[in-house]
Amino acid sequence: MSTDPIQRLEEMEAKALLAGGEARIAKQHEAGKLTARERIEALLDPGSFVELDKFVTHRCADFGMQEQKILGDGVVTGHGTVDGRPVCVFAQDFTVFGGSLSGAYAQKICKVMDLATKIGCPVIGLNDSGGARIQEGVESLAGYADIFLRNVLTSGVVPQLSAIMGPCAGGAVYSPAITDFILMVDRTSYMFITGPEVIKTVTHEEVTKEQLGGAQTHASRSGVSHFTELDELSCIARLRELLSFMPGNNSEDPPRKAATDPADRAEDALDTIVPLESNKPYDIKKIITHVVDDGHFVEVHKDYAKNIVCGFARFEGRPVGIVANQPNHLAGCLDIDASTKAARFVRFCDCFNIPLVTFVDVPGFLPGTNQEYGGIIKHGAKLLYAFAEATVPKITVITRKAYGGAYDVMASKHIRADVNISYPAAEIAVMGPDGAVNIIFRGELDKIKDDAARAEAKARFTAEYKERFANPYKAASLGYIDEIIRPRDTRWTIIRSLRTLANKRQSNLPRKHGNIPL
Ligand code: HXC
Repeated sequence: MSTDPIQRLEEMEAKALLAGGEARIAKQHEAGKLTARERIEALLDPGSFVELDKFVTHRCADFGMQEQKILGDGVVTGHGTVDGRPVCVFAQDFTVFGGSLSGAYAQKICKVMDLATKIGCPVIGLNDSGGARIQEGVESLAGYADIFLRNVLTSGVVPQLSAIMGPCAGGAVYSPAITDFILMVDRTSYMFITGPEVIKTVTHEEVTKEQLGGAQTHASRSGVSHFTELDELSCIARLRELLSFMPGNNSEDPPRKAATDPADRAEDALDTIVPLESNKPYDIKKIITHVVDDGHFVEVHKDYAKNIVCGFARFEGRPVGIVANQPNHLAGCLDIDASTKAARFVRFCDCFNIPLVTFVDVPGFLPGTNQEYGGIIKHGAKLLYAFAEATVPKITVITRKAYGGAYDVMASKHIRADVNISYPAAEIAVMGPDGAVNIIFRGELDKIKDDAARAEAKARFTAEYKERFANPYKAASLGYIDEIIRPRDTRWTIIRSLRTLANKRQSNLPRKHGNIPL
C-alpha cells in the first residue's frame, strides 16, 4: 500500500471494485449475470450512485476467515436517483463468498434501509446470494432477522422492491417476501425454503431447482413473484418503470407525468367489446387499454390467477391501480388465488396513495370443494377487507355481471367506493337468472307435469326475472350506482371522477392495527 494518502485511497478503492476478483467476475458473466456494481449502474441515473461502506469487512475469525477479508464484504450499498428521484439500493455480490450474508454485511443493508426510512425513499434490493454465511453461524441469522424487522417496520412507509437475480434460498427468501414486489429473472434466479436435495431426503420427491423455485414456477404456480423478466437488463428496466408509478413514501402523492392523450377521448369500440350474451367471454384488458393514457398498462402477476387482472396505468398522467375481473378466464369468478392476489395489490395502492379503478364483471365466487376446503371464506374475505379498508379514491365500473357476494366485494358503494358507474347492459342481482328461477319458482315449476309447459313457464319466469333484476336500474334507483354511462364515455367519466376526488381525505378510526383474515 502506498504511503501517500490519496494514492492509498485510490488503491483501496480499486481493490474494493475488484470484489471477489477477476476470475469470479468472469464466472458471473459466463453465467449470463451482471456483477452487483454493473446492476446498480444500470438501475440508477448515470453518475448518481453514492456508495456507502465500501471498506467494511467481516468480523469472522473461524475457519481461516480472518485471512480472507474482502472490502465491501459481499454487498454493495448506497443511494442514488431514478428519473431524478432518490432511492436506496443494495446489491448482493455473488463474487464474494457467493454473496452469502455476514453480520457486517447485514449491518450495511440495515444502514441503507434506515436511511430510506429517514429520508422517505424506496428501497431496492438486488438479490444474488448463497444465504447465511455458514462460517458466521448465528451472527448471520441475527443479521437476517435485523433485515426482516426493518422490512416489516418499513412496510407501507416506503416502497420496497426485490429483484431476484441468482440464488435466494432458506430463510433468506423472507426478506423479499415481505417487500411489495418481487421480480425474477428467467432461468438464472430461483427461490425456495428448502432445496431439491433436502426435499429428496425428506419427502423422496425428485424435482429440479428450476421446477421447484424458478421464475416460471413462482410467476404462475405459487404467486410468490410478480414479474418474470427475460434478462437482467429487462428486469432493471421494469424496476425503473414500477418506481415511476410510486411515491417516495406514504405521505407523498405518486409522481404525475406529462400527458398528451385527450381526457375526453371517446372510444366507439367500447360500445361493442362486452358481448350482449351474458355468458360469452371477452378480454377485459381490451377495455383497460382503450381507456387508460396511451393504452399503457403494466400488469402485475400476469401469469397468476388470470381470472383477475391487476396493474398500473395512468389517467391524465396520474398513476392509478387497476383491478378487473377477467371473463376470459374461469368466467371471471373470484377464487382463492384471485382474492389474495387482488387484496395485496389493493393494499399496496392504498398504502401509497394510488387511486383504485375497478372493473367488475363477476358471476360470483368459484364453487367447489377445492375452494371451500382451501378456505375461500377467509381468502375471499381478504379482498373484501382490503377494498373496504382502502381510503384512496375508489372508482368502480360494472361492465356486465355483478352477482352475489362478489358484487359487494368488488369495490361496491357499500364498502365506500366513491364513484360507482355501470354500463347499460349490466346485471346486478343476487344471482344469475337461471339459478334464481330454479330457486324462487321451484314450487310452481314442480306443479307443472308437462315438460313443454314447464319449459315455457321457466322461460317466462326467466324473462320476468331478467326484466326485474338483471339490469342496473334497480341498483341505480337505490343510489348504489351513481351513473349509467355509454361504454364509449368510460375514459372521460373516470378522469372526471379522479379530478373530483383529487383532494379526497378519509381516514379510518385510530387503532393499533386491523385484524385482516390471514
Ligand atoms: C459461505 C458460501 C455460501 C454460504 C456459497 N458460498 N454459499 N460461503 N456461506 N452460504 C461460497 C462457496 O463456498 C464458493 O466459494 C462461492 O461461494 C461460490 O459458490 P459455488 O458453490 O461455487 O457456486 P454455485 O455452484 O453457483 O452454487 C451456488 C449455491 C451453492 C447454489 C448458492 O454455493 C450453495 O448451495 N451454497 C449453500 C447454500 C446454503 O445452503 N445456504 C444456507 C441456506 S440457509 P469459493 O471460494 O469456492 O468460490 C440460510 C438461512 C437463512 O440461508 C436464515 C435466515 C433466517
